[in-house]
Amino acid sequence: MSASHYLEQYDAAADSEKFGLVRRWIDTEPLPFFKELREKRPILVTSKCTLVTRFDDVREVLNMPKVFTVAPYAPKMGNYLMMHDDDALHTREKSLMQCMLNRDDLPAVREMVGKVSREILDNAHGNIELVGNYCRMVPATLVREYFGLTGAKRADLIEWSYWNQCDTFHNHPFDAQPPEKSQHIIDRHNETSKELGKFIVELIARRLLQVKAEQLTFSTLIRLDDDIVTRMLRTDYPKQLDFDIKRLGINAGGLLIGAIETTSQAVAQVMQYLLDRPEWLAKATTAAQQENTAEFDGFVWEALRFVPITPYLFRTCESDYTAAKGTEHATLLRAGTYVLPVTLSAMFDERAFESPDEFIPKRNWYNYFHFGFGSHECLGRYVGMVMIPEMVRQVLIRRNIAAKAPIDYKDGPFPEQYHLSWAVE
Ligand code: HEM
Repeated sequence: MSASHYLEQYDAAADSEKFGLVRRWIDTEPLPFFKELREKRPILVTSKCTLVTRFDDVREVLNMPKVFTVAPYAPKMGNYLMMHDDDALHTREKSLMQCMLNRDDLPAVREMVGKVSREILDNAHGNIELVGNYCRMVPATLVREYFGLTGAKRADLIEWSYWNQCDTFHNHPFDAQPPEKSQHIIDRHNETSKELGKFIVELIARRLLQVKAEQLTFSTLIRLDDDIVTRMLRTDYPKQLDFDIKRLGINAGGLLIGAIETTSQAVAQVMQYLLDRPEWLAKATTAAQQENTAEFDGFVWEALRFVPITPYLFRTCESDYTAAKGTEHATLLRAGTYVLPVTLSAMFDERAFESPDEFIPKRNWYNYFHFGFGSHECLGRYVGMVMIPEMVRQVLIRRNIAAKAPIDYKDGPFPEQYHLSWAVE
Protein backbone atom coordinates (compact mmCIF):
# COMPACT_ATOMS: atom_id res chain seq x y z
CA MET A 1 0.00 0.00 0.00
CA SER A 2 1.26 3.49 -0.78
CA ALA A 3 2.38 5.50 2.21
CA SER A 4 -0.30 8.11 1.72
CA HIS A 5 -3.43 5.97 1.80
CA TYR A 6 -3.65 4.48 5.24
CA LEU A 7 -5.80 7.22 6.73
CA GLU A 8 -8.09 7.30 3.72
CA GLN A 9 -8.76 3.60 4.18
CA TYR A 10 -9.04 3.98 7.95
CA ASP A 11 -11.59 6.80 7.70
CA ALA A 12 -13.65 4.92 5.12
CA ALA A 13 -13.78 1.69 7.17
CA ALA A 14 -16.71 0.76 9.42
CA ASP A 15 -16.07 1.56 13.08
CA SER A 16 -15.90 -2.13 13.91
CA GLU A 17 -13.14 -2.63 11.33
CA LYS A 18 -10.93 0.34 12.15
CA PHE A 19 -8.79 -1.04 14.95
CA GLY A 20 -8.19 -4.30 13.05
CA LEU A 21 -6.63 -2.25 10.26
CA VAL A 22 -4.43 -0.32 12.69
CA ARG A 23 -3.26 -3.55 14.35
CA ARG A 24 -2.45 -5.10 10.98
CA TRP A 25 -0.46 -2.08 9.79
CA ILE A 26 1.49 -1.93 13.06
CA ASP A 27 2.36 -5.60 12.64
CA THR A 28 3.10 -5.71 8.94
CA GLU A 29 4.02 -2.26 7.59
CA PRO A 30 4.75 -0.08 10.60
CA LEU A 31 7.20 2.42 9.11
CA PRO A 32 5.11 3.78 6.20
CA PHE A 33 1.99 3.72 8.39
CA PHE A 34 3.65 5.70 11.19
CA LYS A 35 5.19 8.09 8.65
CA GLU A 36 1.75 8.99 7.38
CA LEU A 37 0.45 9.41 10.92
CA ARG A 38 3.33 11.71 11.87
CA GLU A 39 2.56 13.85 8.85
CA LYS A 40 -1.22 13.87 8.84
CA ARG A 41 -2.61 12.72 12.18
CA PRO A 42 0.20 12.58 14.74
CA ILE A 43 -2.19 11.53 17.50
CA LEU A 44 -4.63 8.90 16.29
CA VAL A 45 -7.52 8.14 18.66
CA THR A 46 -8.99 4.67 18.03
CA SER A 47 -11.66 2.73 19.88
CA LYS A 48 -9.06 0.59 21.66
CA CYS A 49 -6.16 3.00 22.23
CA THR A 50 -4.55 6.24 21.13
CA LEU A 51 -1.35 6.21 19.08
CA VAL A 52 1.08 9.06 19.77
CA THR A 53 3.63 9.12 16.98
CA ARG A 54 5.85 12.24 17.10
CA PHE A 55 9.10 12.39 19.04
CA ASP A 56 8.17 15.32 21.30
CA ASP A 57 4.73 13.95 22.09
CA VAL A 58 6.12 10.51 22.94
CA ARG A 59 8.52 12.13 25.38
CA GLU A 60 5.71 14.25 26.80
CA VAL A 61 3.64 11.15 27.59
CA LEU A 62 6.55 9.19 29.04
CA ASN A 63 7.59 12.10 31.23
CA MET A 64 4.28 12.26 33.14
CA PRO A 65 4.03 9.05 35.08
CA LYS A 66 1.10 10.18 37.22
CA VAL A 67 -0.98 11.21 34.19
CA PHE A 68 0.04 8.31 31.93
CA THR A 69 0.43 5.44 34.33
CA VAL A 70 1.66 1.88 34.09
CA ALA A 71 -1.72 0.59 35.31
CA PRO A 72 -1.74 -2.01 32.47
CA TYR A 73 1.19 -3.74 34.23
CA ALA A 74 -0.54 -3.93 37.60
CA PRO A 75 -2.55 -7.16 37.18
CA LYS A 76 0.53 -8.87 35.74
CA MET A 77 3.04 -8.15 38.50
CA GLY A 78 3.24 -9.07 42.15
CA ASN A 79 3.86 -5.56 43.48
CA TYR A 80 7.17 -5.12 41.66
CA LEU A 81 8.59 -1.60 41.37
CA MET A 82 7.69 -1.45 37.67
CA MET A 83 3.96 -1.21 38.40
CA HIS A 84 4.48 1.82 40.67
CA ASP A 85 4.29 5.32 39.27
CA ASP A 86 6.53 7.97 40.73
CA ASP A 87 5.90 6.96 44.34
CA ALA A 88 8.09 6.20 47.34
CA LEU A 89 8.46 2.48 46.61
CA HIS A 90 9.45 3.05 42.98
CA THR A 91 12.03 5.71 43.82
CA ARG A 92 13.42 3.76 46.77
CA GLU A 93 13.73 0.34 45.21
CA LYS A 94 14.84 1.50 41.79
CA SER A 95 17.64 3.55 43.27
CA LEU A 96 18.69 0.74 45.60
CA MET A 97 18.85 -1.64 42.67
CA GLN A 98 20.72 0.89 40.50
CA CYS A 99 23.27 1.09 43.25
CA MET A 100 23.61 -2.73 43.44
CA LEU A 101 24.10 -2.88 39.65
CA ASN A 102 27.24 -0.80 40.03
CA ARG A 103 28.21 0.64 36.67
CA ASP A 104 31.86 0.10 37.54
CA ASP A 105 31.13 -3.59 36.90
CA LEU A 106 30.44 -3.04 33.22
CA PRO A 107 33.89 -3.78 31.77
CA ALA A 108 33.90 -7.10 33.68
CA VAL A 109 30.31 -7.80 32.60
CA ARG A 110 31.27 -7.25 28.97
CA GLU A 111 34.21 -9.57 29.41
CA MET A 112 31.97 -12.23 30.96
CA VAL A 113 29.45 -11.91 28.14
CA GLY A 114 32.27 -12.16 25.60
CA LYS A 115 33.65 -15.30 27.22
CA VAL A 116 30.29 -17.07 27.55
CA SER A 117 29.39 -16.11 23.96
CA ARG A 118 32.72 -17.32 22.58
CA GLU A 119 32.42 -20.67 24.33
CA ILE A 120 28.94 -21.32 22.96
CA LEU A 121 29.96 -20.35 19.43
CA ASP A 122 33.22 -22.33 19.51
CA ASN A 123 31.35 -25.41 20.65
CA ALA A 124 28.82 -25.00 17.85
CA HIS A 125 31.49 -25.70 15.19
CA GLY A 126 30.06 -23.37 12.57
CA ASN A 127 26.39 -24.25 12.88
CA ILE A 128 23.87 -23.05 15.42
CA GLU A 129 20.19 -22.47 16.07
CA LEU A 130 20.89 -19.03 17.45
CA VAL A 131 17.76 -18.16 19.48
CA GLY A 132 17.61 -21.11 21.86
CA ASN A 133 21.31 -21.84 22.08
CA TYR A 134 22.74 -18.34 22.15
CA CYS A 135 20.35 -15.36 22.27
CA ARG A 136 18.56 -16.76 25.33
CA MET A 137 21.43 -18.83 26.74
CA VAL A 138 23.95 -15.99 27.17
CA PRO A 139 21.65 -13.73 29.24
CA ALA A 140 20.44 -16.77 31.22
CA THR A 141 24.08 -17.46 32.09
CA LEU A 142 24.58 -13.83 33.10
CA VAL A 143 21.47 -14.07 35.31
CA ARG A 144 23.13 -16.94 37.17
CA GLU A 145 26.70 -15.71 37.28
CA TYR A 146 26.44 -11.92 37.59
CA PHE A 147 22.98 -11.42 39.04
CA GLY A 148 23.54 -14.46 41.28
CA LEU A 149 20.34 -16.45 40.70
CA THR A 150 22.28 -19.63 41.19
CA GLY A 151 20.97 -23.17 41.37
CA ALA A 152 18.27 -23.02 38.68
CA LYS A 153 18.42 -24.66 35.30
CA ARG A 154 18.90 -22.13 32.54
CA ALA A 155 15.97 -23.67 30.68
CA ASP A 156 13.75 -22.80 33.66
CA LEU A 157 15.07 -19.24 33.90
CA ILE A 158 14.33 -18.82 30.19
CA GLU A 159 10.80 -20.22 30.56
CA TRP A 160 9.98 -17.98 33.54
CA SER A 161 11.19 -14.86 31.76
CA TYR A 162 9.39 -15.83 28.55
CA TRP A 163 5.86 -16.21 29.95
CA ASN A 164 6.17 -13.16 32.15
CA GLN A 165 7.29 -10.99 29.23
CA CYS A 166 4.71 -12.49 26.90
CA ASP A 167 1.84 -11.68 29.26
CA THR A 168 3.13 -8.32 30.46
CA PHE A 169 4.06 -6.85 27.08
CA HIS A 170 1.98 -8.70 24.50
CA ASN A 171 -1.34 -9.60 26.08
CA HIS A 172 -3.46 -6.45 26.30
CA PRO A 173 -6.70 -5.53 24.56
CA PHE A 174 -4.77 -3.57 21.91
CA ASP A 175 -2.69 -6.70 21.13
CA ALA A 176 -5.91 -8.25 19.82
CA GLN A 177 -4.99 -11.80 20.82
CA PRO A 178 -7.73 -14.40 20.28
CA PRO A 179 -9.39 -15.01 23.70
CA GLU A 180 -8.22 -18.62 24.07
CA LYS A 181 -4.62 -17.65 23.26
CA SER A 182 -4.78 -14.72 25.68
CA GLN A 183 -6.04 -17.02 28.45
CA HIS A 184 -3.34 -19.58 27.69
CA ILE A 185 -0.68 -16.89 28.12
CA ILE A 186 -2.20 -15.83 31.46
CA ASP A 187 -2.34 -19.46 32.65
CA ARG A 188 1.27 -20.14 31.69
CA HIS A 189 2.37 -16.88 33.30
CA ASN A 190 0.57 -17.82 36.55
CA GLU A 191 2.07 -21.32 36.58
CA THR A 192 5.61 -20.15 35.90
CA SER A 193 5.29 -17.31 38.44
CA LYS A 194 4.59 -19.94 41.11
CA GLU A 195 7.70 -21.87 40.10
CA LEU A 196 9.78 -18.69 40.06
CA GLY A 197 8.38 -17.67 43.48
CA LYS A 198 9.32 -21.06 44.95
CA PHE A 199 12.80 -20.81 43.48
CA ILE A 200 13.33 -17.29 44.85
CA VAL A 201 12.29 -18.34 48.39
CA GLU A 202 14.68 -21.28 48.26
CA LEU A 203 17.45 -19.14 46.71
CA ILE A 204 17.21 -16.41 49.33
CA ALA A 205 17.13 -18.90 52.22
CA ARG A 206 20.18 -20.75 50.89
CA ARG A 207 22.16 -17.63 50.04
CA LEU A 208 21.25 -15.90 53.30
CA LEU A 209 22.72 -18.81 55.26
CA GLN A 210 25.92 -18.54 53.24
CA VAL A 211 26.16 -14.79 53.81
CA LYS A 212 25.53 -15.22 57.55
CA ALA A 213 28.26 -17.88 57.70
CA GLU A 214 30.61 -15.52 55.88
CA GLN A 215 29.81 -12.70 58.31
CA LEU A 216 30.17 -14.93 61.39
CA THR A 217 33.65 -16.00 60.36
CA PHE A 218 34.52 -12.36 59.58
CA SER A 219 35.23 -13.48 56.02
CA THR A 220 38.39 -15.34 57.07
CA LEU A 221 37.14 -18.89 56.42
CA ILE A 222 34.32 -18.40 53.97
CA ARG A 223 34.46 -15.81 51.25
CA LEU A 224 31.59 -15.77 48.81
CA ASP A 225 31.89 -14.76 45.22
CA ASP A 226 30.56 -11.36 44.42
CA ASP A 227 27.25 -11.16 42.58
CA ILE A 228 24.18 -8.96 42.82
CA VAL A 229 22.12 -11.23 45.09
CA THR A 230 25.12 -11.61 47.41
CA ARG A 231 25.54 -7.83 47.51
CA MET A 232 21.86 -7.41 48.30
CA LEU A 233 22.08 -9.93 51.15
CA ARG A 234 25.32 -8.54 52.57
CA THR A 235 23.80 -5.08 52.93
CA ASP A 236 22.09 -3.91 56.12
CA TYR A 237 18.97 -1.89 55.37
CA PRO A 238 17.61 0.39 58.08
CA LYS A 239 14.01 -0.61 58.71
CA GLN A 240 12.84 2.81 57.51
CA LEU A 241 13.81 1.72 53.98
CA ASP A 242 11.12 -1.00 54.03
CA PHE A 243 13.46 -3.31 52.13
CA ASP A 244 12.83 -6.55 53.98
CA ILE A 245 13.76 -9.99 52.77
CA LYS A 246 10.51 -10.29 50.83
CA ARG A 247 11.13 -7.05 48.93
CA LEU A 248 14.67 -8.22 48.32
CA GLY A 249 13.38 -11.49 46.81
CA ILE A 250 10.90 -9.70 44.54
CA ASN A 251 13.69 -7.49 43.22
CA ALA A 252 15.99 -10.46 42.64
CA GLY A 253 13.23 -12.07 40.55
CA GLY A 254 12.83 -8.83 38.59
CA LEU A 255 16.44 -9.03 37.46
CA LEU A 256 15.76 -12.35 35.79
CA ILE A 257 12.49 -11.37 34.17
CA GLY A 258 13.90 -8.22 32.59
CA ALA A 259 17.04 -9.76 31.21
CA ILE A 260 16.42 -12.77 29.02
CA GLU A 261 13.72 -12.40 26.39
CA THR A 262 14.48 -8.71 25.79
CA THR A 263 18.15 -9.39 25.11
CA SER A 264 17.35 -12.43 23.01
CA GLN A 265 14.95 -10.53 20.77
CA ALA A 266 17.29 -7.58 20.34
CA VAL A 267 20.29 -9.76 19.44
CA ALA A 268 18.39 -11.98 16.98
CA GLN A 269 16.76 -9.03 15.22
CA VAL A 270 19.94 -6.98 14.99
CA MET A 271 21.79 -10.00 13.60
CA GLN A 272 19.16 -10.52 10.94
CA TYR A 273 19.03 -6.82 10.08
CA LEU A 274 22.78 -6.73 9.44
CA LEU A 275 22.96 -10.09 7.64
CA ASP A 276 20.28 -8.86 5.25
CA ARG A 277 22.34 -5.76 4.38
CA PRO A 278 25.78 -6.77 3.10
CA GLU A 279 27.05 -3.20 2.86
CA TRP A 280 26.43 -2.51 6.55
CA LEU A 281 27.42 -6.02 7.53
CA ALA A 282 30.84 -5.47 6.01
CA LYS A 283 31.30 -2.16 7.83
CA ALA A 284 30.06 -3.57 11.13
CA THR A 285 32.35 -6.58 10.75
CA THR A 286 35.35 -4.31 10.27
CA ALA A 287 34.38 -2.27 13.33
CA ALA A 288 33.90 -5.52 15.29
CA GLN A 289 37.63 -6.22 15.04
CA GLN A 290 38.63 -3.00 16.78
CA GLU A 291 39.65 -2.99 20.40
CA ASN A 292 37.58 0.12 21.14
CA THR A 293 34.01 -1.08 20.77
CA ALA A 294 32.28 2.32 20.63
CA GLU A 295 32.08 2.47 16.84
CA PHE A 296 30.81 -1.09 16.57
CA ASP A 297 28.16 -0.52 19.22
CA GLY A 298 26.83 2.36 17.12
CA PHE A 299 25.96 -0.11 14.35
CA VAL A 300 24.00 -2.24 16.78
CA TRP A 301 21.95 0.65 18.19
CA GLU A 302 21.20 1.99 14.75
CA ALA A 303 20.10 -1.46 13.54
CA LEU A 304 17.86 -1.76 16.60
CA ARG A 305 16.18 1.52 15.62
CA PHE A 306 14.80 -0.26 12.54
CA VAL A 307 13.91 -3.48 14.39
CA PRO A 308 13.34 -2.57 18.07
CA ILE A 309 12.01 -5.13 20.55
CA THR A 310 8.68 -3.32 20.58
CA PRO A 311 7.17 -0.63 18.34
CA TYR A 312 5.49 1.12 21.28
CA LEU A 313 5.17 1.35 25.04
CA PHE A 314 1.71 1.60 26.62
CA ARG A 315 0.12 3.57 29.42
CA THR A 316 -3.31 4.29 30.89
CA CYS A 317 -4.42 7.93 30.82
CA GLU A 318 -5.49 8.60 34.42
CA SER A 319 -7.08 12.04 33.97
CA ASP A 320 -8.25 13.98 30.93
CA TYR A 321 -5.18 15.55 29.35
CA THR A 322 -4.57 17.61 26.22
CA ALA A 323 -1.42 16.36 24.56
CA ALA A 324 0.66 18.50 22.17
CA LYS A 325 -1.02 21.64 23.49
CA GLY A 326 -0.47 24.72 21.37
CA THR A 327 0.08 22.73 18.18
CA GLU A 328 -2.32 22.01 15.33
CA HIS A 329 -2.63 18.43 16.45
CA ALA A 330 -3.41 19.14 20.12
CA THR A 331 -5.69 16.29 21.20
CA LEU A 332 -7.76 15.64 24.29
CA LEU A 333 -6.92 12.24 25.72
CA ARG A 334 -9.67 10.83 27.91
CA ALA A 335 -9.23 9.39 31.39
CA GLY A 336 -9.38 5.60 31.42
CA THR A 337 -8.14 5.10 27.86
CA TYR A 338 -4.95 3.36 26.71
CA VAL A 339 -2.25 5.56 25.23
CA LEU A 340 0.56 4.08 23.13
CA PRO A 341 3.69 6.24 22.86
CA VAL A 342 4.89 4.79 19.56
CA THR A 343 8.62 4.78 20.18
CA LEU A 344 9.45 3.19 16.81
CA SER A 345 7.71 6.10 15.09
CA ALA A 346 9.46 8.65 17.32
CA MET A 347 12.82 7.18 16.24
CA PHE A 348 11.93 8.05 12.62
CA ASP A 349 10.74 11.56 13.32
CA GLU A 350 12.87 13.98 11.29
CA ARG A 351 12.41 16.55 14.04
CA ALA A 352 14.91 14.53 16.10
CA PHE A 353 16.55 12.19 13.55
CA GLU A 354 18.23 13.67 10.50
CA SER A 355 17.53 11.65 7.33
CA PRO A 356 15.61 9.13 9.42
CA ASP A 357 15.23 6.55 6.65
CA GLU A 358 18.99 6.28 6.31
CA PHE A 359 21.17 3.96 8.35
CA ILE A 360 23.57 6.27 10.21
CA PRO A 361 25.56 4.42 12.85
CA LYS A 362 26.84 7.51 14.68
CA ARG A 363 23.62 9.00 15.90
CA ASN A 364 23.02 10.75 19.19
CA TRP A 365 22.40 7.94 21.67
CA TYR A 366 20.02 10.03 23.80
CA ASN A 367 17.32 10.12 21.15
CA TYR A 368 16.90 6.34 20.96
CA PHE A 369 14.13 4.68 22.95
CA HIS A 370 15.71 1.23 23.11
CA PHE A 371 15.52 1.10 26.89
CA GLY A 372 12.41 3.28 27.33
CA PHE A 373 12.38 6.87 28.51
CA GLY A 374 11.51 8.86 31.63
CA SER A 375 10.68 7.52 35.02
CA HIS A 376 10.35 3.87 33.90
CA GLU A 377 13.54 3.82 31.87
CA CYS A 378 15.05 0.36 32.04
CA LEU A 379 16.78 -0.63 35.27
CA GLY A 380 19.08 -2.99 33.39
CA ARG A 381 19.96 -0.62 30.56
CA TYR A 382 23.65 -0.37 31.28
CA VAL A 383 23.95 -4.14 31.43
CA GLY A 384 21.93 -4.40 28.21
CA MET A 385 24.15 -1.76 26.63
CA VAL A 386 27.19 -4.00 26.94
CA MET A 387 25.51 -7.40 26.65
CA ILE A 388 23.63 -6.85 23.39
CA PRO A 389 26.46 -5.41 21.29
CA GLU A 390 29.03 -7.84 22.70
CA MET A 391 26.80 -10.80 21.80
CA VAL A 392 26.37 -9.49 18.25
CA ARG A 393 30.10 -8.74 18.00
CA GLN A 394 31.08 -12.26 18.98
CA VAL A 395 29.05 -13.66 16.09
CA LEU A 396 30.26 -11.10 13.58
CA ILE A 397 33.96 -11.74 14.19
CA ARG A 398 33.43 -15.21 12.66
CA ARG A 399 33.92 -15.62 8.90
CA ASN A 400 31.28 -16.08 6.19
CA ILE A 401 28.24 -16.01 8.43
CA ALA A 402 25.04 -16.94 6.68
CA ALA A 403 21.43 -17.44 7.73
CA LYS A 404 19.60 -20.53 6.48
CA ALA A 405 16.18 -18.84 6.67
CA PRO A 406 14.64 -15.71 8.18
CA ILE A 407 13.86 -15.65 11.91
CA ASP A 408 10.88 -17.88 12.67
CA TYR A 409 8.55 -16.29 15.25
CA LYS A 410 6.21 -19.29 15.28
CA ASP A 411 3.17 -16.96 15.46
CA GLY A 412 4.35 -15.45 18.74
CA PRO A 413 5.86 -12.08 19.64
CA PHE A 414 9.44 -13.29 20.09
CA PRO A 415 12.08 -14.80 17.80
CA GLU A 416 12.02 -18.59 18.26
CA GLN A 417 14.37 -19.97 15.62
CA TYR A 418 17.21 -18.61 13.53
CA HIS A 419 19.78 -20.94 12.03
CA LEU A 420 23.23 -19.54 11.29
CA SER A 421 26.35 -21.07 9.85
CA TRP A 422 29.90 -19.76 9.44
CA ALA A 423 33.24 -20.97 8.23
CA VAL A 424 35.33 -22.86 10.77
CA GLU A 425 39.14 -22.64 10.57
C1 HEM B 1 19.71 -6.76 31.39
C2 HEM B 1 18.76 -6.93 32.25
C3 HEM B 1 17.52 -6.11 32.33
C4 HEM B 1 16.86 -5.84 33.48
C5 HEM B 1 17.24 -6.32 34.87
C6 HEM B 1 15.74 -4.99 33.15
C7 HEM B 1 14.83 -4.50 34.06
C8 HEM B 1 13.88 -3.54 33.79
C9 HEM B 1 13.01 -2.94 34.77
C10 HEM B 1 12.98 -3.29 36.24
C11 HEM B 1 12.26 -2.01 34.13
C12 HEM B 1 11.19 -1.12 34.78
C13 HEM B 1 11.84 0.10 35.33
C14 HEM B 1 10.85 1.01 36.01
O1 HEM B 1 9.64 0.76 35.97
O2 HEM B 1 11.30 2.01 36.57
C15 HEM B 1 12.63 -2.03 32.73
C16 HEM B 1 12.07 -1.23 31.78
C17 HEM B 1 12.35 -1.36 30.46
N1 HEM B 1 13.27 -2.21 29.88
FE1 HEM B 1 14.55 -3.41 30.82
N2 HEM B 1 15.73 -4.77 31.79
C18 HEM B 1 16.80 -5.44 31.25
C19 HEM B 1 17.13 -5.48 29.92
C20 HEM B 1 16.45 -4.85 28.92
C21 HEM B 1 16.76 -4.93 27.52
C22 HEM B 1 17.89 -5.78 26.95
C23 HEM B 1 15.87 -4.13 26.87
C24 HEM B 1 15.75 -3.82 25.41
C25 HEM B 1 16.59 -4.16 24.46
C26 HEM B 1 15.00 -3.55 27.86
C27 HEM B 1 13.98 -2.67 27.58
C28 HEM B 1 13.22 -2.02 28.52
C29 HEM B 1 12.24 -1.00 28.21
C30 HEM B 1 11.87 -0.50 26.83
C31 HEM B 1 11.69 -0.59 29.43
C32 HEM B 1 10.62 0.49 29.64
C33 HEM B 1 9.25 -0.09 29.87
C34 HEM B 1 8.23 1.00 30.06
O3 HEM B 1 8.55 2.19 30.10
O4 HEM B 1 7.04 0.66 30.18
N3 HEM B 1 15.36 -4.01 29.08
N4 HEM B 1 13.62 -2.96 32.55
